[in-house]
Amino acid sequence: MIAVDGPAASGKGTIARALAKHFGLPHMDTGMLYRAVALNLWRWGGDMASEFEALRACDVAAVDPDDPELRSEAVSSIASRISAYQSVRSALLDRQRQFAGQPGGAVLDGRDIGTVVAPDAAAKLFVTASVEIRAKRRVAELLGRGLPAHFDDVLIDIQARDERDMSRATAPLAQAADALLLDTSALDVDGAIAEAVRLVEERLAVR
Ligand code: CDP
Repeated sequence: MIAVDGPAASGKGTIARALAKHFGLPHMDTGMLYRAVALNLWRWGGDMASEFEALRACDVAAVDPDDPELRSEAVSSIASRISAYQSVRSALLDRQRQFAGQPGGAVLDGRDIGTVVAPDAAAKLFVTASVEIRAKRRVAELLGRGLPAHFDDVLIDIQARDERDMSRATAPLAQAADALLLDTSALDVDGAIAEAVRLVEERLAVR
């Protein structure tokens, strides 16, 4: 079981998918669970300031995983607000633990995989990059998906989201004590993937 955590747009999703492919493991992007709840709540006109309404939105059977809106900054921002609710996190935890505990292992990426979802993971990475680089990458990603994006707005959104994710009381974004830090600021995609594979292989070898 490999845990990949990190702040917004750090490249953890790309790295987690590549690790899954390299090691032949299934992958779960746990941010998509929170995004699906956020989109559900938004579509149905629910109030994100209400924990009760956010919890009702956890019944996400109606969300299409390929909906490009899931990646929009509006949905990202709602996701980071509703993810602070203890009841929302509990409602989504079982699904993540089951996926993490499947025989043969899995790769999960998110904010609290190494600290809460799978504290016994065989290898943990904490992926980060400077906030300017993360904002630049997110703008390119959004434009590539046909969604609107402006650097200044994205930078502010990312900073606000990191702040909320790090300061919430329940399962805050944090590097687990036994997680290996991977700063991708100076690395391109292939370089970041190669470094992630090297770190995980090194960690698995000493176990
Ligand atoms: O792709 P990006 O890093 O921007 O975001 P994401 O991983 O899709 O997560 C969206 C939001 O969901 C985050 O800002 C967190 O507030 C929340 N989240 C969380 O609380 N716990 C997780 N394990 C994953 C995401």
